[in-house]
Amino acid sequence: MSGTKDALWQAYTGEAKAALRLKVFAEKAEEEGYAQIAKLFRVVARSEEIHGARALRVLKEIKTTEENLAESFRVRTGGGGSCVQPVREGGRSGRGPGGRSPFQPES
Ligand SMILES: [Fe+2]
Repeated sequence: MSGTKDALWQAYTGEAKAALRLKVFAEKAEEEGYAQIAKLFRVVARSEEIHGARALRVLKEIKTTEENLAESFRVRTGGGGSCVQPVREGGRSGRGPGGRSPFQPES
């Protein structure tokens, strides 16, 4: 991977992490009664999402909806570093033993 492409991927993941962290901080602020601080966290989180989306566009990772669906399925079923992994013994129903979700947290 080129230096520029690698830097764009790092930017994308950094922005995504920052956005999630800020959204969680907003939830906590809301719980503690700091409505204005929660709003501030959400506004900054949204700006981080915009930055991350820009990196994805520059990387040409935004394709047709059909291609995006295929990529999302590939990632969710274990091919691309998702935070969940499929339960492979799930059979045709996609459900694991005891009707478990086809996805489980990565250990
Ligand atoms: Fe940013």
